[in-house]
Amino acid sequence: MCTQNAFPIQNDPKVREVWNSIDCSLHRFSDIICAFVDNSLSNFRKYALDPHDSRKVRIVLRDDGCWVNVDVIDTGTGIRDIHTALTPGCCDGAESPLNEHGMGLKQALACFDYGCYSWSIQTRTPEDNQLDRYLLVEVPRSPKNAPFMGQYLAGAGKLIHPTGTAISFRCSHQQFDTLRPAGDRAKKSFYTLTERLVEELGFIYAQVLQRGEMTLEVDDGLRNRVVRSRFPLWDKNGPQEIPGVTCDLGVGPVELVCRYGLLRSRKEPFPPCQAPTETGGVEIRCNGRMVQQVPLGQVWNGRSCPRHNRFLVQVDLRSQDWNALPPTNFSKTGFWEGDFRLEALYAWLRANVPLPAPEEPEEERLVEVLARNKAVEAGVIRVARKEDTYRSLDLGVKMDLFVSYQGKSEAYEAKMGCSRPLDVYVLRMYWDGCALDGRPLTQGVLIARHHSREAAALVEQMNSITDPTGRPYRFCLTTWEDEGIDPDAV
Ligand SMILES: Nc1ncnc2c1ncn2[C@@H]1O[C@H](COP(=O)(O)OP(=O)(O)O)[C@@H](O)[C@H]1O
Ligand SMILES: [Mg+2]
Repeated sequence: MCTQNAFPIQNDPKVREVWNSIDCSLHRFSDIICAFVDNSLSNFRKYALDPHDSRKVRIVLRDDGCWVNVDVIDTGTGIRDIHTALTPGCCDGAESPLNEHGMGLKQALACFDYGCYSWSIQTRTPEDNQLDRYLLVEVPRSPKNAPFMGQYLAGAGKLIHPTGTAISFRCSHQQFDTLRPAGDRAKKSFYTLTERLVEELGFIYAQVLQRGEMTLEVDDGLRNRVVRSRFPLWDKNGPQEIPGVTCDLGVGPVELVCRYGLLRSRKEPFPPCQAPTETGGVEIRCNGRMVQQVPLGQVWNGRSCPRHNRFLVQVDLRSQDWNALPPTNFSKTGFWEGDFRLEALYAWLRANVPLPAPEEPEEERLVEVLARNKAVEAGVIRVARKEDTYRSLDLGVKMDLFVSYQGKSEAYEAKMGCSRPLDVYVLRMYWDGCALDGRPLTQGVLIARHHSREAAALVEQMNSITDPTGRPYRFCLTTWEDEGIDPDAV
């Protein structure tokens, strides 16, 4: 066998080629904005900037009909080394665990590189401030692989503070439309979409904003809105909290802050801002920044059931050591599946967060309240849920509620929403079964939130005929409200 000396492979990246190949890897407009905001926040954290004066990100959006022109301007300390900052994969300038991949800025800008899209960076460091200048970097229109050009210009350009960074780009309406909620294809106005951006940023940076770590503003030309934290609407019992526990996910200490509980019933109207946390799951954040909402089944070995839809676990991983945190994907919309730190977090959740007992369906909870109310009514002898009827034929049919008094007995068919004609027939089955079993009912009651015209007409018609034993039917309609029960509060 012939062996030769080993030789290095010549694969130094040609930066513009790499750049062109990363185009459009951030798919949603909000992911692009977050790539910039993450860098600003990272800079604020690194230099522990004054929260009142130097921790602001202003997002300016203008629709000129053809394009949406965007500026993301921060009041940080500027980009210290523009060369490494614009080198794909280079982490030399990393300022906090938010600078994880050396890619965010490049990925985001690469989305605006082609065709008529364009972008520019204006940045001003403390040194530039002393010299009253700023650095402007622009993408040359042609040739496609030409190097980016930087030049110092006098003054502060677009900056809103003595130091900071302003990223400007224009994007297509198609790209801007990705602010619509997933699956919503209805056309939305520019202002409705900017409103969505405000809500989404309020959700992604909820804890960061709440702690006053930065101010985020969105100016769409009509209004300048300060982004407020968006938190889930918990049900009336509120969430359980596990405040700050230090734990090692495999590489070093991480502080875990966790809360969990049921969200309010989705029958109640959710404000649009609730959309991201409308359903249950495990919401995982790193230092307050939302990364991923994982389905419960993924953490609890597929053991969750549809009744857990309203169960939300929020966990915030706090650490300044990026190695200690589970790694994220390049768009920071998820973690690396299978990573040992993520698996250790799942194990911690399984050990410390109890899944709620399966919930009784709402209708059954209402019947339970009705049964309790009936039990204390004057003259009542017996109240039974799921009482058999049609025993004589062994049909296994159960009535929602059976109430016997001295000298009379009633059966209830219960409906959460609006009654339908079919429900009247179910009631008739209860009645006929009891009649044939030899313990005739004196009244059949259909209880619902409200009644359809059709169900009311059928009740009237039924009350004019007789059952198989020759006795006239006696059915009536009532509502939860008539019975003193508020269906929304149960
Ligand atoms: N707004 C900013 N202010 C200060 N420095 C910045 C800003 N944006 C980017 N940088 C610098 O550029 C580097 C690269 O950013 P980026 O491409 O987003 O990489 P990463 O994915 O690691 O965050 C950062 O580590 C930081 O040094
Ligand atoms: Mg970044």
